[in-house]
Parts: sequence; C-alpha cells; structure tokens
Amino acid sequence: MPRESVIRGDELPEDDRPPSAPDVPRAPADLDDDSHDAALRPQRLEQVIGQRKVVERVRIMLDATLKRGDVLGHLLLDGPPGIGKTTIAMAIPRELGVDCQIAAGPALAAPKDLLPYLTNATHGSVLFIDEIHRLPAAVEEFLYPAMEDFRIDIPVGDGLNARTINVQLKPFTVIGATTRAGMLTAPMRDRFVNREHLDFYGPDDLQEIVRRNAKKLRTSVTDEAAVEIARRSQGTPRKANNILLRTRDFATLRHPEGQITTAIAREALAMLEIDGLGLEHQDRRYLETILSVFAGGPAGLQAIAHSMSLSPDSLEDDIEPFLLRSGLIQRTPRGRVVTPAGYEHLGWPAR
Ligand SMILES: Nc1ncnc2c1ncn2[C@@H]1O[C@H](COP(=O)(O)OP(=O)(O)O)[C@@H](O)[C@H]1O
Ligand SMILES: [Mg+2]
Repeated sequence: MPRESVIRGDELPEDDRPPSAPDVPRAPADLDDDSHDAALRPQRLEQVIGQRKVVERVRIMLDATLKRGDVLGHLLLDGPPGIGKTTIAMAIPRELGVDCQIAAGPALAAPKDLLPYLTNATHGSVLFIDEIHRLPAAVEEFLYPAMEDFRIDIPVGDGLNARTINVQLKPFTVIGATTRAGMLTAPMRDRFVNREHLDFYGPDDLQEIVRRNAKKLRTSVTDEAAVEIARRSQGTPRKANNILLRTRDFATLRHPEGQITTAIAREALAMLEIDGLGLEHQDRRYLETILSVFAGGPAGLQAIAHSMSLSPDSLEDDIEPFLLRSGLIQRTPRGRVVTPAGYEHLGWPAR
C-alpha cells in the first residue's frame, strides 16, 4: 500500500525549523534519504538558488493560477538526481497554500495503490509523483482520465456482472519528477501542459548554495573553500551539500578551531576520494571499466553494468550524465566510448 502523507500546504513550516519537529512533513524515506536534506532544502520558491529561468516561469504559472483562483496545470520536472526537482515540487503547494500528497512511481504497483491518492485529493491540491517514469503501464492508464477529466473508472464485479463505476474527482495537479523524460510514454508526457527541465548548476550558484547552507549549519566556510567545494560537486546541489556535511565532520574532529578552510576542504575531498573534476570512486571505476575491459569502447550499457555489478539504471541516472556533460565519454549508436579527455583524466595514454 502506498504511504499516505496528506499535509496542508499553508500549514507547512517556514525555513529554519529543526527537521525533527513533529509538525514538519517528512517525505517517504526513499525520497529523502538524508535527514539533512530536509534541513537544507529551500522551503519557498524565492529561496531556490539558480535555475533562474525555470523559477521565473514557475512563478508566473503560480501567480496566474492564484490570480484566476484556478487549479495549476500538471507540471513535469525532469533532470539528473539531486538537482532540485523535489525541492521545487514541494515549494509549489506551499506557494499556492494547498494540500500536498507524495507518492513514488515504483511504489505504485497497481491502480489500487493510486486510488487513495486520487480520492483524497482536495480541490487544487498537488499530488507529487516522484520517478514517474517508473509507473507501471496499468497505473499510467488509470491516471490518464484522472489527469485529463478528473474522473476515474473503477472496474467492479466480473463475468456478466462486470461494470465500471465512474468516480468524479476534485480538480487537482500532478507534479511529476523524472530523471528520464525520454522514458515517459508519449501519452503520459502529453498530459503535462507544463514541462520544465533542470540542468546542472554553474559554479556561482553552487558557491551560493554552499555558503547559505554553511550558515544554516552554523559552520563557517571561507570563500575560497566554498569555491573549492562547489567546483568539485558535479554541478549538483545535493553533492555540494554532502561534501559540505562531510567536510564539516572532518573539521569538527581534526580542526577544532572550526572554520572550514581550503586546506581542510581539500583534505576532506581527498579522504572522500573526490578528484579535481569532482569525480567519485564509482565514476572513475566506470571509466576504468570501459578502458580496461572494453578497450575504451564502444561498450553497451548492459555490458558495462554487468562488469561493474551495478544496475544499468543506476549508471544511466547517477554516473553517466555528468561524464557526458564533462566530455569524458560519448554515447554512440554502438555504445559508450571514452573520449581523449577521458583517457587524459585517468592518466591513460591516448589510443
Ligand atoms: N536550487 C537549489 N537551491 C538550493 N538548494 C538546492 C537547490 N536544488 C537542490 N538543492 C539542495 O539539494 C538537495 C537535493 O535536491 P532535490 O530537490 O531533492 O533533488 P532531486 O529531487 O532533483 O533529486 C535539496 O535537499 C536541497 O538542499
Ligand atoms: Mg527527488
């Protein structure tokens, strides 16, 4: 059964309350694996750093919806992991002052799992569906009329007695988040009138995120150290936050004077095995696998995943986007190839 989490948007706390406060809404554990995530996550749209164009367009959607006293059109957010999809999705019901329910694609195995969310949806409320590309086809088809006409058809009885009951729902908004917009079926994608793509962050925005979050954590970070952490976090706020938290631990134990300096940040990054480009152990292992097992490529995703004992999904979601973005690998019709820059980064002689 899906977990139910109905919360009143306008009752949500403002920033800066401890995440352990009993009235703070908690996302299901698989959405929010790090308790610090909740503490550092911007609560309102205006606190979201960067992604300026996306935020501006979302702001216009919200203001127009509020002005008309309307229900927000369904919104799809896509982009790599840790880039702010959940953050923006959760800020929206707060801005609109409406209820919010949270569901995750993989947890909705059958239409009956979706049913309570749909019937619980209040007028104008938000149903956030994370990893919406992982909804099974039957659940997706059940969702279509709910999104389009706010109506569902529930089959009852069987054989000669089979019929469907038509249930009218309150108009509501689906906010879907996905790391793979390309994996959504065309009819699913078409149900979203609003679609926004979130991309990797530039160094300035990441520095600002590190600085603001250090303040939230009551930790002092020199500007230079913030630059260093930002530079090595793969354009991804979640990674910047994690590095900041780990560096803070490191500073607490080894440098009790407290302030995070560049030297301390570098020590912590070395301990975390994060290199100059921000690659982590698994990222380098991925490149080394293509180089040593597949002679630099082309290598199929499945074959690489098999060699690394990881799932192809996790490679596509967690490892490849940044390597592609930094030009260390290329995707070709015949498979993945390490580029000359990839050879150079690992210190392998070019082919
Ligand atoms: N634009 C942003 N400004 C500030 N912090 C952000 C931003 N985007 C993400 N974060 C931080 O990164 C963490 C992960 O973001 P999240 O929204 O959960 O990513 P996603 O849902 O895309 O995987 C959040 O808890 C938040 O602290
Ligand atoms: Mg998320």
